[in-house]
Amino acid sequence: MVDIYSIRNSNARYAAQRRDRFIHVYVGATRGIGAASLEMSYQITFQSTFYVLGRSSASFAMQKEALEKLNPSNRIEFLEVEVSTIEGVDAACKHIAGIEKRVDFLYMSCGYLPIAGPSCKHGHILNTTADAAADTKEGREVCMMLSYYSRMRLIYNLLPLLRLSANPKVLSVLYAGGEGLMNDNDLGLESNWHWRALTKHANTMMSISLRQLSATEEKVTFIHAFPGVVATDKTGKFAPLPGASTLWIIMLAIIRWLFTVLPILFGIPVGECGERQAYHLTSDKFGSGFWRVNANSEPIVKSNAAMDKYSEDGWPQKIWNHTVEVWEKAKSKE
Ligand SMILES: NC(=O)c1ccc[n+]([C@@H]2O[C@H](COP(=O)([O-])OP(=O)(O)OC[C@H]3O[C@@H](n4cnc5c(N)ncnc54)[C@H](OP(=O)(O)O)[C@@H]3O)[C@@H](O)[C@H]2O)c1
Repeated sequence: MVDIYSIRNSNARYAAQRRDRFIHVYVGATRGIGAASLEMSYQITFQSTFYVLGRSSASFAMQKEALEKLNPSNRIEFLEVEVSTIEGVDAACKHIAGIEKRVDFLYMSCGYLPIAGPSCKHGHILNTTADAAADTKEGREVCMMLSYYSRMRLIYNLLPLLRLSANPKVLSVLYAGGEGLMNDNDLGLESNWHWRALTKHANTMMSISLRQLSATEEKVTFIHAFPGVVATDKTGKFAPLPGASTLWIIMLAIIRWLFTVLPILFGIPVGECGERQAYHLTSDKFGSGFWRVNANSEPIVKSNAAMDKYSEDGWPQKIWNHTVEVWEKAKSKE
């Protein structure tokens, strides 16, 4: 375990070197782990540009002001886009590519645990039809987009700029180690949506795809991190969808209570988690290649049934083909 004092020392050493002129791209940094990670990174690099992608520049205004006070040498630009759509991701990347000659850091933690049910326009709970699971204007279920497809699209779009960095780092905060056997005939969960399946699919496809990319992108560091149980505000995540049964409403209230109280009592404070993510981005411990990292900032070396299975029989390519297919389907709806 890398204890928090070592993390702080490492971040402080990095800050003391006053490394400067980096280009950072942050997604999911308007709240929670992402906001804490952004805050820490903002303090330890200098004269750098931070692009923050999110839904509302008005909501980000106070956060932006606080960051600017923390380190006036940096510049921050908020790109108001819907990152649950390929259109939004593409627009943001196009904007960045039009200005910057390279990207040094890409950080992603957009998403949530959709226990209340799929974010769907029809309001069904745990409905298993593709139609009901659709939500974005591109016809995709939101959480799966945020957790996997949009993040991969960001990486894919920004790779040409990442390749031009001396030491490019990509960090995806999801649940490394939480890979699980998937429904092989429905990778996109179009007919078999369930939040437990979603976490397995997103985590597995994230690990396999990042590792696959690292095989050809030799210069880039790809990290899939598990943040641990972190005391972020999850209260809004468990609102029952329209049509929920009384039993499910009561269960959701209990789950919400557990998810709120347990992380406060036993979880990792969000600030500490942010310090750890900044460490993952800046520490020499994580050089080029693919890393699965646990909540203690240690590499996960142990494989599991899913990592073993989806490393063989052409699975990395099948997962990549599926990913591209979902992007294309989404784009065809724009
Ligand atoms: N917290 C934990 O204990 C924990 C444990 C394991 C894994 N994780 C994973 O770590 C990641 C970050 O978790 P967190 O606790 O930091 O979450 P959080 O506090 O809820 O922050 C989530 C981020 O995702 C964005 N987001 C949510 N819904 C969105 C939507 N529909 N469209 C665009 N952006 C949206 C939010 O933007 P807005 O500000 O616009 O809402 C925010 O920036 C998630 O993928 C989560 O599953 C968390």
